[in-house]
Amino acid sequence: MLVIGIESSAHTFGVGIVKDGKVLSNAKSMYKITNKGMIPIEVAEHHIENAASTIKKAVLEAGISFKELEGVGYTMGPGLGPCLQVGQLSAKALAYKLNIPLLPINHGLAHIEITKHMERLKDPLVLYVSGGNSQLLVFNKEERRYIILGETFDMGVGNAIDNLARKLGLEHAWGSEVEKLAKDGKYIKMPYTVKGMDFAFTGLLTNAIGMLKKYSVKDILFSFQETAFAQLCEATERALLLTKKSELCVCGGVAQNNRLAEMLTSIAEEHNIRFARTKNEFNSDNGAMIAIVAEKEFLKGKRCSIKRCDIKQRYRVDEAVFYG
Ligand code: FE2
Repeated sequence: MLVIGIESSAHTFGVGIVKDGKVLSNAKSMYKITNKGMIPIEVAEHHIENAASTIKKAVLEAGISFKELEGVGYTMGPGLGPCLQVGQLSAKALAYKLNIPLLPINHGLAHIEITKHMERLKDPLVLYVSGGNSQLLVFNKEERRYIILGETFDMGVGNAIDNLARKLGLEHAWGSEVEKLAKDGKYIKMPYTVKGMDFAFTGLLTNAIGMLKKYSVKDILFSFQETAFAQLCEATERALLLTKKSELCVCGGVAQNNRLAEMLTSIAEEHNIRFARTKNEFNSDNGAMIAIVAEKEFLKGKRCSIKRCDIKQRYRVDEAVFYG
């Protein structure tokens, strides 16, 4: 089945096309985040300006024509309302014009499922880490949905990293830059919060910002990363012992961080289980992940009337029933 997926929940307007589980194209246009962070209406304006050209680019790169498309998926949520609306309306317009079915997809579910699909995982323990979310999950086959075993009490780890980068005045205030600058820093003791399989980052963030008068940016970034990731790893290890899964994967924007992957790899080795993460292209927000989930759902016969295809800003991953 030939399916197009549209992702627009935050700074990326992404359009992916898949056929029978194979990604044919994955085009994107990204809003440039300034040190003010993301202003939803400005990001939505970026998406409006770039929607048509990104859709066309994806179709061109896939080497298909619009008429061949058989289904459309779009991100229903969670995300920024005005941004989600641009993706929703673009997807509706395509579905009406081409007279093909439309499905709303949960963003977190798409991050997890593209990782499982690409890495051929069967039933992993999932660590989903991004700007908006940080969760430990497993799939419940009876209920056909993910269950959250542990999650952040306050903010996503990616949001904490971006916030710290902005507060420390980094020129490029995002995760990859933090990872680069944090290399070879010295460890400073920072507050550490894990409760069972839950964790928190606000105290750590406030403390790290306050250290700027006394310590170098490099040492602060290094220590922040080590502490935040150690929290995630402690909770992950606890979840592994509880669930006894033989596969562990990490997904979402922060999954691109090599230090986190290194720490998770050593946990997997210690427990003699498989660890997987997929390519960066599919861990950052992208349209292909939406198309992959939509195709699986279409093939299971799932349909939604176009008029009822809505957006939901606070759409938790454990609310999304998945038959794919
Ligand atoms: Fe995401």
